[in-house]
This record gives sequence, C-alpha cells and structure tokens, in this order.
Amino acid sequence: MRIPEETVERIRQSADILEVINDFVSLKKRGSNYIACCPFHNEKTPSFNVNPSRQIYKCFGCGKAGDAVRFVMDIENIGYGEALRYLAKKYGVEIEEQEQTPEDLLRQNERESLLIVLNFAKTFFQETLLNSDEGKSIGLSYFRERGFSNPTIEAFELGYTLDQWDVLLKEGQRRGYSVELLEKAGLVLSKEGAEGKDRKIFDRFRGRVMFPIHNVSGRVIAFGARILKTDKNQPKYLNSPETTVYHKSQVLYGIYQAKQTIRQEDVCYLTEGYTDVISLHQAGIKNVVASSGTSLTTEQIRLISRFTPNVTILYDGDAAGIKAALRGLDMVLEEGLNLRLLLLPDGEDPDSYVHKVGAEAFKSYIQTHSQDFIDFKASRWLTEAGDNPLKRAEGISDVCASITKIPDPLKRQTLSQRVAQVFHVSEQSVISEINRLLRKQQDQHKKDYERQQQRSSPNKTSANSSNTLTAGEPSLDDINALLDGFSEEAPEMAGFGDTAPPVQSSANLSKAVRTPISYQEEECIRLLMNYGARELEPGISLCQYVLDELHEIEFQTAPYNVMLALFREAYSRGEILTANDFLNRKITDETDLQNRAIHLTTPRYEISEGWLKHEIFVPSEEEISILADAAYRNILRIKKMMAEKRMGELQQLMRESRNKSPEEADQILLEFMHYKRIDMQISGLLGTVISG
Ligand code: UTP
Ligand code: MN
Repeated sequence: MRIPEETVERIRQSADILEVINDFVSLKKRGSNYIACCPFHNEKTPSFNVNPSRQIYKCFGCGKAGDAVRFVMDIENIGYGEALRYLAKKYGVEIEEQEQTPEDLLRQNERESLLIVLNFAKTFFQETLLNSDEGKSIGLSYFRERGFSNPTIEAFELGYTLDQWDVLLKEGQRRGYSVELLEKAGLVLSKEGAEGKDRKIFDRFRGRVMFPIHNVSGRVIAFGARILKTDKNQPKYLNSPETTVYHKSQVLYGIYQAKQTIRQEDVCYLTEGYTDVISLHQAGIKNVVASSGTSLTTEQIRLISRFTPNVTILYDGDAAGIKAALRGLDMVLEEGLNLRLLLLPDGEDPDSYVHKVGAEAFKSYIQTHSQDFIDFKASRWLTEAGDNPLKRAEGISDVCASITKIPDPLKRQTLSQRVAQVFHVSEQSVISEINRLLRKQQDQHKKDYERQQQRSSPNKTSANSSNTLTAGEPSLDDINALLDGFSEEAPEMAGFGDTAPPVQSSANLSKAVRTPISYQEEECIRLLMNYGARELEPGISLCQYVLDELHEIEFQTAPYNVMLALFREAYSRGEILTANDFLNRKITDETDLQNRAIHLTTPRYEISEGWLKHEIFVPSEEEISILADAAYRNILRIKKMMAEKRMGELQQLMRESRNKSPEEADQILLEFMHYKRIDMQISGLLGTVISG
C-alpha cells in the first residue's frame, strides 16, 4: 500500500532521531552529539554516534549510518514502508492510504492468504504434537529422544502430522480455506484420477514431525517434514514446494530465531540441517542458521550480510561436507564477507557433536579448530602435495583463485602475504599469480562484454578507435576535449600492479571498488557535497568550477558516477545538491548512496592509510584559498589519471602492433606521446616528481 508523498514528509518531519533511537539503545550526550554502544555490532566502547542537528546516525565501528527511517528499517529488519508506518504510529501521524490497483490488491491478498493458511497449518501441527495420542507417543517422544526441551519445541514451533491422508485438508476446509488455497500453500496435493475416477486431493505431509520455516520477521512460509519410520522409498525430509511466499534459495532456516544473536555476536554460524540449528540453539549457541534443503546460494549469503559480515561454516567432516564447504567458500568471499570454516570430526554433525561434548566444549572447539579459507585450503593441498612442486603450485593457484573473488583490493593485498607465508614462497610470486588470474578474468569479462555488444548492435565499431589525434602541442585547455573521448568503459578494479583488470559489472553499486582513481572521485564528490555552494571566486561556486572542469567526463567508479550525474542534473536546474538531498530520498532511493553521503559529510572523517597514500588532505578547508586549491588539485589528478589510463591502453595496443600496419602503429605512438605530454604537464602543475 502506498503512502502519499505529503504524509511521508509529515512523518519525517515529526520523527526525532534521538527519541527513535532511544527506544532501542540508551544514548549519552557527548558534546553536541550523542553516543552509545552500537546496536548493529558487538562492542565494548561506544562508537555509535547520533547527530541531532543533522538528524543522522553513524557507527564508526561498523559503518552503519542513516536517518531515523533507516535506523528503524535496520534495527527491525523491515522495509521502507513498514518503517514509515512504525514512525507514523509512534508520532500519531495518520496515514490515508492511496488507492491500490486491482493487481496490487490481488497479489497482496494472495500473499496474505497464504501466510494465514500456513499459520493455521503450523498451529494445527503444534496441537497435534502436544494433544493427540499419536502426536504424543510418536512425535513428542521422537523429539525427546533427540533431546529437544519444551522451550526449544516452542521456540521453533515444532509439530507433528498424523499418519492419515487428509486430516489437514478436512480441518482446513472446515475452517473455510479453499482447496486451491491449501494447494497454493503447498499443503495439499491433487492428482487426476484414473479414467472415470474422481480427482484425488490429499495432504502433502503425513506421519512426519514438522519443522516450520520462518521468514526474517517470524511468519511461517513453508515446512520441512521428517519421516520417522525407515522407508527406503521416502525421502528423510520432505520440504514445501516453491510458492508465492517461499523461494527456498532466499531463505535460511532459523534466521528469525538467530538474527538478534547474530548481530550481538557479530558472527553467523552456517550449518546444513534443521537439527543442527535447533540443537545448537538449545545449547545456547543461537547465532546459527542452515541452508536446509538446498546448497548455499548467493541470496542466502546476502541475507546473512544484513546482520553481520562474518560467517563461519560448520559442516560435517565427510567428503560431502568438504565439497559443500568448498563450494560455499568462493560464494561467501565474492559477497565480500569474512569467512572461517570448521569441519567436525568424522561422522559428526553439529547436532550430534554438541550433544556429545556439550556447549562449552563445542564453543572452544570452534575457537581452536576453525580456519580461515587460506589455511583451510592450504592444509588440504599441503598434505596431498608433500614435496611434489607441481601439486604445490596447483595449490597456490587454487588459493589465489579464491582470493580473486574478494572484491576489496586492500584485503586481497593483505591476504597475499598470508599465502606466501603458508606456502613458503615469495609474496611477489603470489601477487603475480593473483594478477595473472585477474587478467584472465578480465579477458573473459571483456570477451563476454564484446559478445554482448555485438549481439545488441552488430554495426558499431569499438569506442577506442574513434579517438582521433589532434596535431600540435596540447595546451591545458585541450585536455578536457581530449579526455572526453574515453569515458564509457566499465569501472575497474585494482589488481596489485599497474594493471587494473575490470571484473565487476557496472550495475553493482554497493561493493567498494578501490582503484586509485576511486579515491579521487570520492574526494571530488566529497568536495561537491560539503562545499558545492561556496564561491571560490566571486560568482563562481565550487560546484560550477568542478562541473565545468569535468565537462563531460564520466567517473570510473559506479556509485560516484551516479552521484556526479545527480549533481549535474540538479545543476542544470540551477540547484546545488547537499548531503541532505541524498538522505531524504528526494533524489535517490539507494541506501548505498545515502551511506556514502553520510560518510563523506561526517566531521570525524577518517583519514585512512589509503587516503594518505593517494595524497588527499583535508585539514582546514574552511579557508577559501585552501578549498580552491583542493578542488584544483583534485581535478588535475582526475584528469591525470584518465590520461594515464588511456596511455596504458595505448601501450597495450603498441604491444599488439606487430599485427598492425605501420601507419596504425605510428598513429598509436603519436597518440601515446600526446598523452604523455599532457601527463607531464599536469605533473608539473601538481609538483609531482615524474619518473620514467
Ligand atoms: P541430513 O541427512 O544430514 O539430516 O541432511 P540431519 O539434519 O542431520 O537430520 P537428522 O539428524 O537425521 O534428523 C541435512 C539437511 O539436508 C536436508 C534437510 O534440510 C536436512 O536437515 N535434507 C536432507 C532434505 O531436504 N531432504 C532429505 O531427504 C535429506
Ligand atoms: Mn543429524
């Protein structure tokens, strides 16, 4: 249901961030701000900051940031609309809902009806477990045997279904649920009868203990059902089919019961089965979920990342467990999460092992036996390889392949040192291997891209060849014109050397892509956002200066390019955007952009190592001359980097020029010299020492 724009505005106006946050954590005044221990990650000293005048919060520990609405969304794990409703209720703002289209209504009604009928089934299975003779003697005694206590059975809403054909169907119909609805919810099945016979309708789950599967907000969306007899013809666990409310690749069993603790402990244990989750929970290890009934998916990993960036995989130590762990490993890394792995002793799963050794021993087993992915992979390779150098090389390559999955280049860099230590080789050889693999991926990426381009427009020539040469000595004024030509490529990702192979799709805004140029682009946006309206000289705002200088240059880093486009668009209407424009959803719905806006405008702006390395300084910018100088240098650096990028491309072309005509080769060389002069000129202006 849509909330009218004016109402949204009214809700935002009435909500006070201090009051909103104080409902969840107790804030203490510190200067003009308020602080607390962060509710989104585990910490002892408070780094969670609330700024009442700007109505925003930011945690310097985990980086979470936003306004009042964002806070409610994150702390309650609800959507934007729901968060607005929460605030409307708190502040007594009345919401007149907008008319819905018939399709909206239908879809919502179907979802809601399914959830209602699934909830009925859950309650029915619970009652059967606790109140019927068969439920008690078979279902409940089975759970007892497995060591599940009453509070555990209650917390997971476990149940039992009688070994009959249509108990649920009959009770459902008696309560007025249609057969179609029960079928859509995956609770009953219907089969065409043989000739002359009626269609048969019957319960999907019969004579099984029932494990309801909850979504993040605790509503039942499906069931897992375990058989108790030994019957070779029946699967041990039977799961609900995919329905409108259940997409198994997006669901983690136990997430509802685990989410609070995952956030507090700042780590999520990932297991394979229903009983692993339940037994660990009962033992007091509550930050645990399972990818039940499917092998781990990217959506499931993203679900975890809403609560913590740290995942520990706890799988069986058998061949199947190892295989599953290796599969999951790269996927977790690819999502930018930190990963540890633990294999349980042979023949044990987390459920059996925690029963055997108890909670404390289990916890310390995790502490002592979990490995990061490098040790996990290396220990396997090193035992196998012995002193076979080929096998070792294969092992290094395998570990490096996983490292290339990590989106953050700085993290990759640190890890290459670890690999070198573990395999007793030089760091340089590890770096070379990683760069080789990245380049390979880049080539693949390029090929895929070109194939895609060709498919969409077979007559288009490549963008590079349109870059013609202007004769004569270039003046600084020419730089803009020259640079305009090459801005349409995909964003790049830093390797370790000068080569920076692109491996990411430009669509993904949220991943941190730290190329050297990304620091300058971030700096540019930061200047625009903080000082856009300041006049560098009478009548010329910083915004105008920067946008004029950049002319039609596009940024290489996707999120900053989006932000730049927003500045341009607003400026063409005579407006200069500020951080608040990014925050209040008028111009963008992207949380990622909002977070970046907060980050870039928060006074306690951290000067990280990266920033020092890239020569970005921000001491007393309040002074106009310093600000103007910062903007001037930033623009020059961006242009210099773009020239360097083009030079790199030309060098590559020169290397391949053997296959080209002499004219073509000359042309390339000329263009290269041209950019080299520009590059040196800018270096001179920047006062940078030039090498080579
Ligand atoms: P396991 O066979 O290891 O089961 O399957 P388990 O969790 O240890 O269960 P118990 O201890 O025998 O009761 C691991 C997970 O794989 C899925 C289930 O989610 C199960 O928890 N599975 C297994 C199925 O979906 N169907 C099956 O037939 C078997
Ligand atoms: Mn088991």
